[in-house]
Amino acid sequence: MGAPDELAYLKSLVSQLNEKIASLESKAKPPVKTPAQQLRTILVGPPGAGKGTQAPRIRDEFCVCHLATGDMLREQVQQKTPLGVEAKKIMDAGGLVSDDIMVNMIKDQLDNNKSCKNGFVLDGFPRTVPQAQKLDGMLTARGEKLDSVVQLLIDDQLLISRITGRLIHAPSGRTYHKTFSPPKKPGVDDVTGESLIQRSDDNVETLTKRLASFHAQTGPVVDYYKAKGLWHGIDASQSPKVVWDNMRKIFVSSKK
Ligand code: AP5
Repeated sequence: MGAPDELAYLKSLVSQLNEKIASLESKAKPPVKTPAQQLRTILVGPPGAGKGTQAPRIRDEFCVCHLATGDMLREQVQQKTPLGVEAKKIMDAGGLVSDDIMVNMIKDQLDNNKSCKNGFVLDGFPRTVPQAQKLDGMLTARGEKLDSVVQLLIDDQLLISRITGRLIHAPSGRTYHKTFSPPKKPGVDDVTGESLIQRSDDNVETLTKRLASFHAQTGPVVDYYKAKGLWHGIDASQSPKVVWDNMRKIFVSSKK
């Protein structure tokens, strides 16, 4: 074989080997989902508006953490910690747990939860203006900024059936509805096969108090973020898919 032929042969061999290596590498590594950008957003809405239904979608799509203060408190209740015992009384009465406790819970997550490195979706926090102010302080100290605050808008009357029909899988927080989003097998979680429960504050009497507290204390939080130009409203009476599509548009456009 002359030198030119040998060179051509070796080049073709190298090219075949490179192709083979690339193909083996792509099979060996699972595709890593990297978000194109970070996202820091807050969902605001009355009980049953759909915060807990939509937040996991935001978490999965944007690779951020989902911080739900209600879920964190229910975990304390389940573990029967001193905080959990006190919080249960307040939650069952439809009141609000103290600002300091809630702010420290969120601070702890932002400081220590690695899944918050690309950002977060806050669900149920801030619920009062002092909580919103403290969150601003925390973010400023971290050199971070909020991208958006999305309010789920819905009439109070529509929330009764949503709340009284809700079923949850306590360990994961997965949410179902007896009529609007039933599990495959009645009363049982689709993923684990474990039993679903009804929250102790999901009754008409407590709901009335939770709604009153939402309008009185979280209403001013909405004004606080409107004044900062971060507020977006969404009609939350539509199907979960339509609500999600509209919400997604906000996240994508608030980043442009
Ligand atoms: P928390 O757990 O935050 O309760 P909440 O704000 O009252 O909100 P919910 O979880 O009831 O409603 P959601 O909007 O998540 O509705 P979901 O998506 O499940 O707080 C509980 C308590 O903890 C408070 O009352 C307070 O005491 C305390 N607390 C928490 N945070 C605090 C804080 N920061 N400061 C002080 N205290 C604090 O949807 C409801 C149902 O409707 C589901 O069954 C779902 O399947 C269905 N559904 C959802 N979307 C749709 C749709 N588009 N169409 C039809 N059905 C739908």
